[in-house]
Amino acid sequence: MKDLIWKKQGKGESTDSAIMEFLAGEDVELDQELLVFDLQASAAHVRGLQQIGILSDEESACLLDSLLTIERDISSGARCLDNRYEDGHSAIESWLTEMHGEVGGKVHTGRSRNDQVAVALRLYMKDRLGKLRGLCTKIAAVLLQRVAAEGDLPMAGYTHLQPAMPSSAGLWLAGHAEAFIDNAELALLTSQWLDASPLGTASGFGVNLDLPREAVTRDLGFARMLVNPQYAQNSRGKMELQALSVLSACTLDLRRLAWDLSLFTTHEFGFVQLPEQYCTGSSIMPNKNNPDTIELLRAVHGVVQGAQTELASVLSLPSGYQRDLQATKPPLLRAFRKGLQALALLPDLLANFAWQADRMRASVSAEMLATDHALDLARDGIPFRDAYKTAAAEVTELNDELIAQSLANRTSPGGCGRLETEILQARLDSLKD
Ligand code: ARG
Repeated sequence: MKDLIWKKQGKGESTDSAIMEFLAGEDVELDQELLVFDLQASAAHVRGLQQIGILSDEESACLLDSLLTIERDISSGARCLDNRYEDGHSAIESWLTEMHGEVGGKVHTGRSRNDQVAVALRLYMKDRLGKLRGLCTKIAAVLLQRVAAEGDLPMAGYTHLQPAMPSSAGLWLAGHAEAFIDNAELALLTSQWLDASPLGTASGFGVNLDLPREAVTRDLGFARMLVNPQYAQNSRGKMELQALSVLSACTLDLRRLAWDLSLFTTHEFGFVQLPEQYCTGSSIMPNKNNPDTIELLRAVHGVVQGAQTELASVLSLPSGYQRDLQATKPPLLRAFRKGLQALALLPDLLANFAWQADRMRASVSAEMLATDHALDLARDGIPFRDAYKTAAAEVTELNDELIAQSLANRTSPGGCGRLETEILQARLDSLKD
């Protein structure tokens, strides 16, 4: 470990490497992912310092130029964070000092690593929630396209995993589409909720400089600034939990969708065939074709739930910055990495699986029309309870026309008819960027 930015006389001279490594924890790896946001915020801070005359125009131009170089080096892989630095924040200052000597030493004027990490995390969450929203709308769009193309295909509908009423590919597809539209909306609302800049609150008490916080807030694209410096620190973890709960809503729906596909691809159901690339074989049973991809997609919610619990457990803290807060980063980053990776597979998977129309049609049996029949009798004036008792015995006939009629006569919107798709499509359009 070199370049401890807080090293001063009598402090940091004899740093025990085991202790330093423990303190850094996973920061070296995780801050690599946050670095791009830290660099963005550092540039805005530099422009703020220039505005109040702490940095001359020339000094500011030098630093901004080097921050861009660092950003380019990071994305090309020419420069990366390593354990010579305590964390990403220290690395940025050390690199600027290597490049510009004393001028580099001015970048940290009026900021603390406490507001530095907080601002980087807010930018990170806004970015990831934006990506999440984009994926949710993409998933919903694919599902709705398939409703338009194949929505009328009949199949059995189940409750308790027992045959219930005639259903359709469209009802199933649009059901999952509506879920992901809800999730896209939640991602948008949550992103707006945490869209506030903590930069300029320093270690949690503000500073005796006239930092242009409003201008820096706008510069970074935040909707507003966090007003109270103590809350800037106290909100750490709380925002992260909320961001995770959006992700969790998505992976919960992903789990249910994957479960359905997992059932539909069984030999017994046979409603769906997956493209070959989503399946694997068995090392011993030559006959096997296993839907591993959908099983692992189903497992992702467990990772997110684990992260939520881990993060929430850290937050039993008094006001102000505590180093424990560093432990909120690993679950947040781990969960978003995994969750986004999984959800990104969904649009193609959903666009390319094949419905097995014959097997779906064969799953619909005459008794499934009993509810329709009971309600037909009730419409004619027979008390529903009496109609219910006679209906089951009376339904014996089944053909394609009766199934189509049953589906067409359902409550609208809600039967995956045209109107329902239009309503969902309009909501989806309003959520796209
Ligand atoms: N890695 C630290 C974190 O995530 C950065 C802030 C360090 N601040 C401090 N006062 N030691 O919280």
